Amino acid sequence: MVEMTLVLIKPDGLKKSLTGNVLTRLSETKLDIVGARIVKVSRELGEEHYKHLVDMPFYEELIKYIMGDFHKKKVMALTYWGEDAIQKVRDICGKTNPEEADAVSIRGAYGRITTRGVYENVIHASANKVDAEREIKLWFKPSEIIIEMYPTVEAEEKTKVIKWA
Ligand code: PPS
Repeated sequence: MVEMTLVLIKPDGLKKSLTGNVLTRLSETKLDIVGARIVKVSRELGEEHYKHLVDMPFYEELIKYIMGDFHKKKVMALTYWGEDAIQKVRDICGKTNPEEADAVSIRGAYGRITTRGVYENVIHASANKVDAEREIKLWFKPSEIIIEMYPTVEAEEKTKVIKWA
């Protein structure tokens, strides 16, 4: 089944200059990148992304981590598209817990668990189709993705924008 999935290269990945390695590993999937952004993650965005974890003991640290408080204040957000995209990306990422992840997976090779018990696992990848749609719509506008997978509507918006002077 043709799917889209969201990948985030997290602040530890950017701080450790792992972007190239991670993209090379993901290219093994032969999936297409159809959206890419560098994002300075606001608290609001981080909290919305991880809202299902709000009651977890590591939640506050997780939000600080994705905002870049411990590394660099940026995340690379990517949308991959193709056959079985969700599972193919998850396989290369490895298990969420970097200590349980296969040693040659991205998280197994580069992830760690902090002394406070938070996974610094370099990469996020959508877990299933429902999560993928929610996450892609959170991190990307329709105009930032070069294919149309989810329905869109035309709307008039009057907002102030920053443009080149
Ligand atoms: S999963 O694999 O995405 O389905 O996992 P999920 O349970 O939905 O998300 C857990 C996210 O929290 C991050 N995290 C931790 N999980 C469990 N235990 C600890 N200690 C912990 N610390 C951080 C974990 O990395 C998942 O985020 P992502 O971005 O998916 O890696």
